Amino acid sequence: MSIIKLSDKDKLVQTEAIEELREYFGARSLSLGRKLTFEVMTYGCQLNESDSEKITGMLSSMGLVSCAEQGKADITVMNTCSVRENAEDRLFGNLGVFKTEKKKNHDMMLVICGCMMKVPENVEKIKKSYPYVDLVFDPQQLFNLPVLMRDCIRDRKQLINIGSEDYIAEDDFFSIERARKFRALVPIMYGCNNFCTYCIVPYARGRERSRSFDSLIGELKEIASQGYKEVMLLGQNVNSYGIGSEDGKSFADVLEETCKIEGFSRVRFMSSHPKDLSKRVMDIMRDYPNCEKHLHLALQSGSDRLLKRMNRPYTRKEFFDIADYFRKEIPEGSLTTDIIVGFPGETEEDFECTLKAVEYCRFDSAFTFQYSKRPGTPAASFKDQVPKEIVTERFGRLLDLQNDLSYKSNLAKVGNSYEILIEGESRAQPGIFTGRTISNHLVNFTVPEGVSGDLEGRLAMVHIDRARPYSIDGFMERFTDV
Ligand code: SAM
Ligand code: SF4
Ligand code: F3S
Repeated sequence: MSIIKLSDKDKLVQTEAIEELREYFGARSLSLGRKLTFEVMTYGCQLNESDSEKITGMLSSMGLVSCAEQGKADITVMNTCSVRENAEDRLFGNLGVFKTEKKKNHDMMLVICGCMMKVPENVEKIKKSYPYVDLVFDPQQLFNLPVLMRDCIRDRKQLINIGSEDYIAEDDFFSIERARKFRALVPIMYGCNNFCTYCIVPYARGRERSRSFDSLIGELKEIASQGYKEVMLLGQNVNSYGIGSEDGKSFADVLEETCKIEGFSRVRFMSSHPKDLSKRVMDIMRDYPNCEKHLHLALQSGSDRLLKRMNRPYTRKEFFDIADYFRKEIPEGSLTTDIIVGFPGETEEDFECTLKAVEYCRFDSAFTFQYSKRPGTPAASFKDQVPKEIVTERFGRLLDLQNDLSYKSNLAKVGNSYEILIEGESRAQPGIFTGRTISNHLVNFTVPEGVSGDLEGRLAMVHIDRARPYSIDGFMERFTDV
């Protein structure tokens, strides 16, 4: 499979399609007497959220406006996730409503993209059972959305475009419309070469490809100058950034250079693979005050036997060594993880190794998943699948243990004050604001009398007075960014 770097010429083709669509939607708006609207529905991880910001940017450039009412937009884009079966079920569960809506609104267009569209069974299902879906394309064709939309509208029939090539575009290929005014999601690399035996991502997202160092840093400086306080460097395995590149730059170089950029109060990254996380990365986390003190490092299983079967090339001991180093160097930091319960062949003994590993590492929080069989992955054909009731029972035990650890981690914050980057006001509870510490602990807090207005993106000291299982509560003392 080849990797194609998109050029200025490719960008021109897309820009022309955007212009044509702008004219077309403008004319439709005039005859309808209202602006045409769009909605982007995002499933899955931050990489999909980042892709959706690009989709939103493209749709806005076409003159469409965001729709206030869910499910009623003229153009709906569903950006899907395939990582577990329940993510897929959510899409098919939501599709049905559009059948009746489309009968009422002839301008309505339904677009489905994202990782699920790289699974042939899903595309077949859409072809067969959902003829009212207008356009389907895979994640590598994201840049091609304007041309595909134009062709689809012109030909007035279902258009399915699933490519076999991996593309890489610098982010300035797109005009990005960011979802949060304080946070910039910046993919530094695409794809994954790790082929963990349970995982669909390498098939959905293609081979690893890193963005060029110089243009990445240039873009990050631009983002900081636009006033974004937080940047999140994204990749399925950020530690493989630059492997094999000519300039020899590594993820540690990207991280350090980003931390040096004036204006970023928080530099975050996601995800790290234990097999090649360097000590230098943890040293940078320790040494730069604006580098988040939070390491998300997926353990997956605490059993060496299962790690091998999962094609995760590290041992529990190697994982513990990283955890020990992190805890020693960054004692105020938080360590979080992903764990899969019920991977094929998991015995009670393997599962107990996972529980012991969780206890040893004292994770501050964890995403715990029941193994989900992904068609086309090696583990899907392993003969020794674990019965559902055993998986559910083990999952409950793991959850109990982790909830206890998460609560203890939150409890340790009580009585202290921390600087919080404010994310906004709670919709459910007006007057209560939320934000995060630099260790990524979620904080709900009240503000002093007289403080009001839009606080999103502000920095403030918050005193913590109560711990909950998944968050901590407190009250704001003062702003720290004035
Ligand atoms: N690249 C990241 C890493 O390796 O740390 C993980 C990205 S993946 C999108 C997020 C998590 O989903 C994985 O760490 C794994 O725990 C979980 N996951 C992936 N495939 C799964 C499957 N088939 N069943 C259950 N959980 C799965
Ligand atoms: Fe999936 Fe493994 Fe790649 Fe993470 S590293 S995306 S779990 S294949
Ligand atoms: Fe899902 Fe694709 Fe992310 S499968 S988790 S959206 S890379």
